[in-house]
Amino acid sequence: MSTLTAPREDLLAAPDRPAALRLREVVKTYDGAHTVLDRVTLEAAHGTLTAVLGAAGSGKSTLLHCAAGLDDPTAGEAFVGGRRVSGLGEAKRTLLRQGRIGFVFQSYNLLPSLTVEENLQLPLRLAGAEADRPWLRLLAERTGVADLLRRRPGALTAVQQQRAAVARAFAARPDVVFADEPTGALGADESAEVLDLLRGLVDDWGPAVVVVTRDEAVASRADATWALRDGRLRPVLTVVK
Ligand SMILES: Nc1ncnc2c1ncn2[C@@H]1O[C@H](COP(=O)(O)OP(=O)(O)O)[C@@H](O)[C@H]1O
Ligand SMILES: [Mg+2]
Repeated sequence: MSTLTAPREDLLAAPDRPAALRLREVVKTYDGAHTVLDRVTLEAAHGTLTAVLGAAGSGKSTLLHCAAGLDDPTAGEAFVGGRRVSGLGEAKRTLLRQGRIGFVFQSYNLLPSLTVEENLQLPLRLAGAEADRPWLRLLAERTGVADLLRRRPGALTAVQQQRAAVARAFAARPDVVFADEPTGALGADESAEVLDLLRGLVDDWGPAVVVVTRDEAVASRADATWALRDGRLRPVLTVVK
């Protein structure tokens, strides 16, 4: 309970705290020929929202997979919370992922046979941590799913499912939450809800959130926006909020 209301200064102040996410010269080549990522370097601090915009097939999911240790880069390194996620064995990688990384997907990916509450409990369970009911309660309230906890995902609207998925991604208090096209299946109003929610959670609880998307609406909530094209990241200048 003590950490859930921890002021952001606790998370942000330590000058020697490692970046939540660091990619160094990440290269990803498929079939030894098709270079999807070409020396991508990216750093994201706790308490920031980073947007990566790119067309379909530009390598957004590949970038997230390499950053999260779901896939190994062909060259370069990825670090989450100062720990290397690239080139680890599968067992170590899974442990790290469960504790330090949260995911939000376009299609929500909630487990349909579990209630919303059980879905929220899952990351802590997988990480071997104790159930923390007050924290999960607060998280459910903050994400607007407190009245839906006993339902199964199939009984929720699309945006309710995505809110629950966002709650689940934050449940284990990760260093980084990766969101892969989180608004891809939602209308404009619902998308705005989800993006505002992510922005608010970054501000309240201070992980780094990295959103990869074709939805340019995310840029207005982001601290930094990049465009992924031809395997390279380029900064996108956005109008001041
Ligand atoms: N496992 C794979 N094997 C071969 N090519 C792949 C694989 N995964 C993705 N690609 C290719 O890499 C490129 C980028 O894919 P992806 O990262 O899914 O893009 P995005 O998420 O931006 O749509 C595409 O050309 C895709 O066909
Ligand atoms: Mg993708």
